[in-house]
Amino acid sequence: MNQRRPVVLGISGSLRKPSTNTRLLSFIGGMMPETVAFHMHDDLAALPHFNPDLDLDHVQEDEAVHTWRAQLKAADAIIICTPEYARGVPGSLKNALDWVVSSGEFVGMPTAIISASPHPDGGAIALHSLTLTLKMMSAVIPDEASLSIPFASKIVGADGLVTDPGTLSLLNNLVCALNQAI
Ligand code: FNR
Repeated sequence: MNQRRPVVLGISGSLRKPSTNTRLLSFIGGMMPETVAFHMHDDLAALPHFNPDLDLDHVQEDEAVHTWRAQLKAADAIIICTPEYARGVPGSLKNALDWVVSSGEFVGMPTAIISASPHPDGGAIALHSLTLTLKMMSAVIPDEASLSIPFASKIVGADGLVTDPGTLSLLNNLVCALNQAI
């Protein structure tokens, strides 16, 4: 029988083309076992600003919102990799999350979260804030699937590869913890 492979959806909190976080996410995608399918959502910028007036049953769903929700619904696990902006979660990522508070796609969803920053604290404040938001939405974040990566511009090479043994070990633990939670 042809069984469907579990889908892991990667979401980068950076819209920048040469983003460290997006490159790191691709790298992690390559670490996934062959038993899962890894896809990236790459269109957070298409989402309109969240407005509860547009989030009602009788209002026609915006196409970008529909696609965003459908991709989350089709996923069995999520990995979010984000920079920190001004000591917080980037607005485009927070906006995307606001669109799924009431529709509930994150409820019970195994979710790994990473903040990667060139700064020594690795964007830990944004990671903490993201944790609060996702827990409020009832996402499941395994202990080893939450990670701040400092000095990320050195850790993630221009070729998108990570070679630092300590970081590789943490990423490996994160991938294992997420797959166990699926
Ligand atoms: C930043 N950056 C940053 N870094 C950090 O660790 N804490 C912060 O509060 C901020 N604030 C901030 C604000 C703005 C407006 C910018 C443009 C940048 C630096 C940020 O971590 C760095 O640019 C990363 O390389 C961004 O991630 P990507 O786009 O490379 O994935």
